[in-house]
Amino acid sequence: MAIKVLLTDKSLFQNKVDALAFFVEKDFDFKKEFKEISEKYCKNLQKLLSDRKFTGKQGSFTVVPVSSDSTFTYLVFLGLGKDNNQTTHFESYRRTIGKLIKLLPSYNIKSVAFQLPQEKTLGFDINYIAKQTAMIISMADYAFDDFITENEQAKRNSYVINIIVPAKQIKDLQKDIDQGLIIAKAVNEAREWVNLPANMLTPADLAANARQIATDHSLKCTIFHEKEVNKMGMGGLSAVARGSDKDCCLVIMEYKCKEKDVPTLCFVGKGITFDSGGLSLKPAELMETMKEDMSGAAAVIACMQVLGQLKPKVNVIGVAPISENMPSGTSVKPGDIIRFYNGKTAEILNTDAEGRLILADALAYATKHYKPDFIIDIATLTGACARALGPFYTGLFTEHEELSTHIHHAAKKSGDFVWRLPLTNDYKPAVKGSFTDLRNTGRMGYMAGGTTAACFLQHFVNDIPWAHLDIAGTAFNVPDAVSYFSPATATGVGVRLLVELAMEWKK
Ligand code: BES
Ligand code: ZN
Ligand code: ZN
Repeated sequence: MAIKVLLTDKSLFQNKVDALAFFVEKDFDFKKEFKEISEKYCKNLQKLLSDRKFTGKQGSFTVVPVSSDSTFTYLVFLGLGKDNNQTTHFESYRRTIGKLIKLLPSYNIKSVAFQLPQEKTLGFDINYIAKQTAMIISMADYAFDDFITENEQAKRNSYVINIIVPAKQIKDLQKDIDQGLIIAKAVNEAREWVNLPANMLTPADLAANARQIATDHSLKCTIFHEKEVNKMGMGGLSAVARGSDKDCCLVIMEYKCKEKDVPTLCFVGKGITFDSGGLSLKPAELMETMKEDMSGAAAVIACMQVLGQLKPKVNVIGVAPISENMPSGTSVKPGDIIRFYNGKTAEILNTDAEGRLILADALAYATKHYKPDFIIDIATLTGACARALGPFYTGLFTEHEELSTHIHHAAKKSGDFVWRLPLTNDYKPAVKGSFTDLRNTGRMGYMAGGTTAACFLQHFVNDIPWAHLDIAGTAFNVPDAVSYFSPATATGVGVRLLVELAMEWKK
């Protein structure tokens, strides 16, 4: 699909479109809201809605054809539900937008007009509502369908969404719409990279995308190739890459703010373009979606592309260690001992716990060379976290309260939600090695695989405020209740969150 988002000050009835859409709170007052519409376009609308039991329940919708002498073909009603929680209520709004966009093709609706919900209905200011609306329209429009050859027809369809706002606000809100679309484009790009299978997106391909983005948006980009990675003593990344025919690399992108003395933030993303498990081979069912294992790197790289355009008042370093994890005669073996960039050693007990190995070197590198105000890493790191939280919340692990507060705030605002899991002293012995500093799996008895993985990573950030985001459950195949994603594909999780953090960060 291709979709256009336009602002207009034309009234609902002046818009020449196929459909009008309405966002309706649970148990809405029909007379107050729809009397005029009903009189003009559909005399028995109230009865019709009640016959169909449309009450505005969250997630519900109904499409009503209107009399042939009107300029519209349909009225579309979408339920917002009722919710005292501002965050979840706004998420319902995002999902009604998603629903609206997804139902367009099946009704052959090519153009829609709607009024933005009121500030008091959603509890957010109109600029935020406009930005989020545009973002979600564009995210809902994304589909991974380039490889369906019969899809030519669907692709040619283009859609126009008219958002009705008061004339005096058009100029101001256009900025928010543009920002929303910039962020959505990056989210969709991250989704596309994740959806591309490992034969179509190799480590070199992902690095090339980063390089291209840096060129397009005037960012600095440094790429260390496998030879340099080995020479620099990045034993974790080297060990993981050894089993693959394809070279690994470490990508570093830098956004520099024009102002001096601004904070420096650092984002680090796991970039395993395919995780077979290595010699500790995954069973077939668990391997099926392991092209998704570079979702963290995708989020970081896509985020940098937004920052290059929206130019926040911070410096941001984006780091992505990128590799395949494959079994072969040259693979790292269970029992092997490696040494990381910061000199620490680890015994590799399970080659499938490879994410922490490549992140360790990336974190150590960022810590040593940039001394950022904080580091956040983002990774499809553990099945344990995915099982604990499921597909709606990313796991957050940190011992830094202030950073945790910032991340929670940004998560709620961006729609990339997080849920904090423990990271406390009790768990730390789980990754202590027997004859090395560390071991790459948690010791028996500690369980809590998400937490013990975080304990491992903590050894590579010294005392820099640091948080770890485990997106194993949220990066891919989120149920279609979240209507603006599509099942069995990538979500681009993290892009909205990291962008929000960078845009709103104050020293
Ligand atoms: N990439 C996987 C984690 C994962 C699982 C991501 C499901 C997305 C969905 C990671 O490298 C992995 O295999 N982790 C192991 C660690 C274990 C061997 C300690 C796991 O979670 O089983
Ligand atoms: Zn693995
Ligand atoms: Zn992995």
